[in-house]
Amino acid sequence: MWLVSVLGPLLKLYFCGIRVLIYQMLNKSFTLPALTKQNGRVAIVTGGTRGMGYETARHLASLGMHVIIAGNEREEGKVAVKKIHGEGTSGKAEYAFVDLTSLKSVRQFAQSFRDRGLPLHLLVNNAGTMLVPEQRTEEGFEFHFVLNYLGHFLLTNLLLDILKRSGRPGFCSKIVNMSSATHYAGIMHMDDLNRKICYSSHGAYAQSKLGLVLLTYYLQEQLTAGGFSVTVNAVDPGMVDTALYDNLWSLAQAMKKPVAKILFRTPAEGASITVYAAAASEMEGVGGCYLYNGEKRESSESSYDAELQAKLWKTSCELVGIKSP
Ligand SMILES: NC(=O)c1ccc[n+]([C@@H]2O[C@H](COP(=O)([O-])OP(=O)(O)OC[C@H]3O[C@@H](n4cnc5c(N)ncnc54)[C@H](OP(=O)(O)O)[C@@H]3O)[C@@H](O)[C@H]2O)c1
Repeated sequence: MWLVSVLGPLLKLYFCGIRVLIYQMLNKSFTLPALTKQNGRVAIVTGGTRGMGYETARHLASLGMHVIIAGNEREEGKVAVKKIHGEGTSGKAEYAFVDLTSLKSVRQFAQSFRDRGLPLHLLVNNAGTMLVPEQRTEEGFEFHFVLNYLGHFLLTNLLLDILKRSGRPGFCSKIVNMSSATHYAGIMHMDDLNRKICYSSHGAYAQSKLGLVLLTYYLQEQLTAGGFSVTVNAVDPGMVDTALYDNLWSLAQAMKKPVAKILFRTPAEGASITVYAAAASEMEGVGGCYLYNGEKRESSESSYDAELQAKLWKTSCELVGIKSP
């Protein structure tokens, strides 16, 4: 049992990582095409205080967007905003507190945003964590599940009506979900989403990233069926040198450092796929894709399972206490 539940996900995850590194060794990082200005458009980037989220926020602000960086470290948030404005950006950046591990905090964040009466043209569900030892939140959720997936599920639903109102044909509102190649190793444990049985941090991370791909496809179907001008895509940035790897075991950490210098992408390179999904003219009106290195790719077989997508959506609604819109 232990071998299957703990060692299995670990090996699968490292196998995914090795495949990505070989790809990155043989292929250049994707180069963004020229992007049109996005003046006046409003974006929320979760986890925009550092790493790829920061680079995404910085780039979007340079395109003229009003970017709200949503994160749970107030000081880091202020520093990020100051740095972006210090570059003389044509857009605007501001920080707002949200702790995505707390559904209460997600609700408060969404309500404060709603109270401002702003439109919302882009929601980037970027914040995340990886390989944290087993932890439950006050509300009883497993850490990877709630921070990477469920918190974003709730946030998206609480802001969906504004996204719908803010989009129009030719100028869709956009949702970008930050997934990962690790989703290929993911299994949705529908009867144990909080991974109480035989916890594996590797399995929990991979599951949360698969959840985001399932959410992407299901939501796009609903939005298209409803005739709304909102697109949803999942992106995979490759392996990127950020603080995300801080929880690796010390041996893996020591091995990662020299490899990362040569083979990992920089945070700006990793963020380019998110910026592409958010602002490239080629992506206007295009949704329901899994994007990697600037191209649409096949995601895992289970991510296309329509029954699983619907089941996860329904269960997620129940877990966060909302009616399926
Ligand atoms: N690096 C990679 O190789 C890689 C590969 C595939 C996918 N990804 C995904 O890319 C996304 C960004 O990761 P990164 O590599 O840029 O890592 P990072 O530098 O560690 O950034 C993670 C971000 O998430 C935020 N965050 C953490 N806990 C939070 C919470 N409770 N509430 C709100 N925000 C929180 C952090 O903000 P605070 O500082 O405010 O905590 C930080 O801005 C993640 O979803 C990750 O899974 C990364």
